[in-house]
Amino acid sequence: MQNSWAVVTGASSGLGVTFAEKVASEGVNVVLAARTAGPMEELAARLQEQHGVETLVMPVDLSDREARGALIERLHGMDISYLINNAGFATIGDFAEADPTRMLQEKELNMVALTQLARAVTPGMISRGRGAIINVASTAAFQPIPTMAVYAATKAYVLRLTIALWEELFHTGVRAIAICPGPTDTPFFAEAGDDTKMAKRRTPAQVVETTFAGLGRHQPYVVDGAANALMAFATRLAPVKLQAALARWVATR
Ligand SMILES: NC(=O)c1ccc[n+]([C@@H]2O[C@H](COP(=O)([O-])OP(=O)(O)OC[C@H]3O[C@@H](n4cnc5c(N)ncnc54)[C@H](OP(=O)(O)O)[C@@H]3O)[C@@H](O)[C@H]2O)c1
Repeated sequence: MQNSWAVVTGASSGLGVTFAEKVASEGVNVVLAARTAGPMEELAARLQEQHGVETLVMPVDLSDREARGALIERLHGMDISYLINNAGFATIGDFAEADPTRMLQEKELNMVALTQLARAVTPGMISRGRGAIINVASTAAFQPIPTMAVYAATKAYVLRLTIALWEELFHTGVRAIAICPGPTDTPFFAEAGDDTKMAKRRTPAQVVETTFAGLGRHQPYVVDGAANALMAFATRLAPVKLQAALARWVATR
């Protein structure tokens, strides 16, 4: 795996850092992509020292199509074993009061950038007969969520896209998996505008472990944590109006 690379988006904090550590521990070189360079430079130095891997730090706003194009250009011709489409953010609050620009950036990052990156690396993975695309969805994907309406819709897209991709790639040697974390201990809720929500949280290490276990079982998606998995399953048994009402109750209590 000496010459193979993992691309980790959102590698400046939270889950992205733990994903980068995991793939580097397998001896895979890592491209770190997010907007904030400082934490990625520090992470890169640590990965080089601890695991002897090469790193490439790419400070990039993935919601900007031009900037994203430059990253994709840079990846051209690289032997990419993992694409970890992890960068994403949420907005908490009523739809009618949401910042329209932020709303578009949320859709652009969570869905469009993820799709474009997956499309860019898939042909190379197929021609090598190996590789994995890990798309970070959420338990938010399983029902509409009033007060997080756009976020939940973007994650439903990620889940559906990934399951379709998993099936298309089934006989190619390339895997696709959506990881659906529930509330996890990262700066995510603070970034979304309310860190008081969902106080009981899983750890990034647990989420990453669940992801790679699901990948090993060749699952199209996996929910992190037994309680989250049970909730995700139960939600789908309820009529959609009840799903939305329950989700509002959980999100605003
Ligand atoms: N934590 C949870 O409870 C939870 C639950 C379910 C799903 N998730 C999903 O997990 C993923 C990772 O989130 P996290 O929990 O680790 O939160 P986080 O610590 O806030 O990390 C988000 C990452 O995305 C990057 N990012 C944000 N906007 C970006 C942009 N425009 N361009 C490039 N990178 C950008 C951030 O880096 P910069 O700010 O430096 O750009 C950061 O590295 C997200 O997709 C999120 O939806 C999280």
